[in-house]
Amino acid sequence: MEVETMQKIVEVLPDKSALIERSLEVVLTKMQAAIAQRGIATIALAGGGTPKPLYEKLAEQDLPWEKIHVFWGDERYVPADHPDSNEGMARRAWLDKVPLPPANIHPIPTGATDPADAAAQHEAELQAFFKLSAGTFPAFDIILLGIGDDGHTASLFPHTDALQVRDRLITVGNKDGQPRITFTATLINHAYTALFLVAGASKRPALDHIFAPDDDTLYPARLIQPQGELWWLLDQAAGAELDQ
Ligand code: 6PG
Repeated sequence: MEVETMQKIVEVLPDKSALIERSLEVVLTKMQAAIAQRGIATIALAGGGTPKPLYEKLAEQDLPWEKIHVFWGDERYVPADHPDSNEGMARRAWLDKVPLPPANIHPIPTGATDPADAAAQHEAELQAFFKLSAGTFPAFDIILLGIGDDGHTASLFPHTDALQVRDRLITVGNKDGQPRITFTATLINHAYTALFLVAGASKRPALDHIFAPDDDTLYPARLIQPQGELWWLLDQAAGAELDQ
């Protein structure tokens, strides 16, 4: 897999709606380029609140849905109909409103008693989908990400074992004792494009650490150094004082 060396793009948009508009442009451009080059586009979604309006705008697009495959970069360990489910949020905001073939939607399983079994199951699903040989990693066309106030991304939380897992695609995350299923930093770093969407002043302290040349505290989002393009789209409230 040949991808360009990492290119970092940082844009600060005037407000959240401009951030969402810009993220829509980037996502559409990347998906259309992927389809043109490889016949399909693979996108992994972020959870949380920031990306929801982006998903709502994607639901208004006229796209070759049969060529688009949707995954999640992480998932809370709850059923899809649980209010905390990232899958449920994306289905309500977007996926249930467009004619995506059901086989093109690849949710993270959360039904196994042991979350480690769910992680292994999803890893096997990805290996089959991307036709991977053992020990190799797929390059998602786009992986959408957010950051928490603590600098976590996906479900890679500070001081958790998930940060050390580098030889797997999928692992079990841990948020305050609650299990999550998450892409590993290694999988994210194989992406053609990793795209962070960050809004709100509460994210400034974490961003300062993440963007610092070096930092003694490990803010997990610092681990995201994709082989392809690294995009940071920030609203003014989050990114105004950033020394890029
Ligand atoms: C999740 C997300 C998580 C999210 C950040 C930011 O499952 O919660 O994947 O990594 O991106 O917590 O969440 P907000 O967008 O709600 O600030």
